[in-house]
Amino acid sequence: MSVVKINVLTVPAEQRAVLEERFSARAGLVESSDGFEWFELLRPVEGTDDYFVYTRWRSEEDYQNWMNGPMRQGHQGGDGARPKPAATGSSLLSFEVVQQASAKNA
Ligand code: HEM
Repeated sequence: MSVVKINVLTVPAEQRAVLEERFSARAGLVESSDGFEWFELLRPVEGTDDYFVYTRWRSEEDYQNWMNGPMRQGHQGGDGARPKPAATGSSLLSFEVVQQASAKNA
């Protein structure tokens, strides 16, 4: 069963452009991770001011493997080598995919 992991980022208004630029320049490592299915960076329009980093994985295990390995590289080390984060907070939402559909002609 696929799982969806959404990292919810609190981003001050003046940091939005910085955040989006960082994602534009992201390492692109997630695409080659085993079990990775989908990524979207979602900019808030209505109902929230938070950015959602949507990721979808074949299984919880695949997500955990990414978290314990390539994720660190995709976040430029996480060892203080990167500049101050554009986001001031984050929290993780987890879901299991129980139903899905796509456009008939897609
Ligand atoms: C500590 C909280 C986190 C913050 C502040 C954060 C923020 C960011 C930022 C700014 C980037 C762009 C690249 C960079 O500047 O390094 C990034 C990349 C990414 N983040 Fe996070 N992130 C966090 C944790 C997570 C978690 C738990 C997930 C899992 C859903 C996630 C999913 C991703 C993905 C898929 C990328 C793209 C990686 C790639 O280049 O392939 N992040 N994140």
